[in-house]
Amino acid sequence: MSFEEMWAALLPVGRDAWTGGYHRFAWTPPELDCRAWFTDEARRRGLRIEHDPNGNLFAWWDAGSGPAVLTGSHLDSVPGGGAFDGPLGVVSALAAIDRLRAAGFTPRRPIGVAVFAEEEGARFGVACLGSRLLTGAIDPSRARGLRDGDGRTFGEVIAEHGLDPAAIGPDEGLLGRIGCFVELHVEQGRALREPVGVASAIIPHGRWRLDFTGEGNHAGTTLLADRRDPMLPFAHTVLAARRSAAGNDSVATVGKVTVVPGGVNAIPSSVTAWLDARGPTDDAVRRTVEEIAEAARRAAAEHGVTVDLAEESYTEIVGFDHALRDRLALVVGGQARSAEPAPVLPTGAGHDAGVLSARVPTAMLFVRNPTGVSHAPAEHAETGDCLAGVTALAAVLKDLTGG
Ligand code: GLV
Ligand code: MN
Ligand code: MN
Repeated sequence: MSFEEMWAALLPVGRDAWTGGYHRFAWTPPELDCRAWFTDEARRRGLRIEHDPNGNLFAWWDAGSGPAVLTGSHLDSVPGGGAFDGPLGVVSALAAIDRLRAAGFTPRRPIGVAVFAEEEGARFGVACLGSRLLTGAIDPSRARGLRDGDGRTFGEVIAEHGLDPAAIGPDEGLLGRIGCFVELHVEQGRALREPVGVASAIIPHGRWRLDFTGEGNHAGTTLLADRRDPMLPFAHTVLAARRSAAGNDSVATVGKVTVVPGGVNAIPSSVTAWLDARGPTDDAVRRTVEEIAEAARRAAAEHGVTVDLAEESYTEIVGFDHALRDRLALVVGGQARSAEPAPVLPTGAGHDAGVLSARVPTAMLFVRNPTGVSHAPAEHAETGDCLAGVTALAAVLKDLTGG
């Protein structure tokens, strides 16, 4: 199957007909369908399937010997996400293997294609959960207890899908077999003018949960002076987040809120909000979040409401392996008409590559995104650029496994 045929096969899976957005949460039917599709494609190519204890999936071209070159990405999505974030890296990896085989190339080292679990953290709240578990970046007992929106734990859900919750955690055997990891991904910020670029860094980023607790009451009969309405400090906090981010050269987003009980004619008893903050340095992010927390505490006190803030995940700045980055820039540039090194750029988006980079030399290829829209249905990359990405990835795999 060509890149275009594989892409077309995945395109309807988990797509909301009304908005065009994708809802492929980890271990829900659309994501499982994507995994089944991947397994079929891998088997069709004679690749060996491996399930690790953490829900990550691998397809191996068991060629040659020595440490493997791993590529791939993820198949889960954010709520209402785009088609490219994740699947582009997986489909491109299979297409790159096809290119190498069609050219008669035999690698001297194994090549693996990874599908990492719960990269977006859309179901259990912690982004890159599969790669964090694999590399030991999250405590397994904490991971087991993470709950989805229906109150089901990660441990319960993976047990239903044949995994042993007691066995999750770092997998040194698997890590030891990986020589390097190269993730191809759609670029997500309108920063890439060429069809394909190479990542330099991922800026620091994290997620925090804010619980505002007040008193539920009647919307019509409760005097303003008697209210303890958690919606008010919440609203104040959202505006403070914008102000603090701007003041610290950072970004801050509140994209998810739950209101209890959620009645039009009821003052809420509680509001829970999730804050995503990112910035150029750890200090900038920490300062931004501290300022937001202070604003939340002040506003909560003013309205007779309590607020608790909990950090759900944090990823420090990631600088990708310099030697690998420079090597990729030359290889990819060699494929382009200009024969200049490919552009090298940082990103504000998180990736499994950022997590893996703590344990194995890691790099990323980016495919141009003409509008920069991502985590939204309009996310797009031109087919010609995607095919240039496949060409670049094939060249990189050849370079890294040919010697
Ligand atoms: C993942 O895509 C993130 O940047 O949050
Ligand atoms: Mn994403
Ligand atoms: Mn992604």
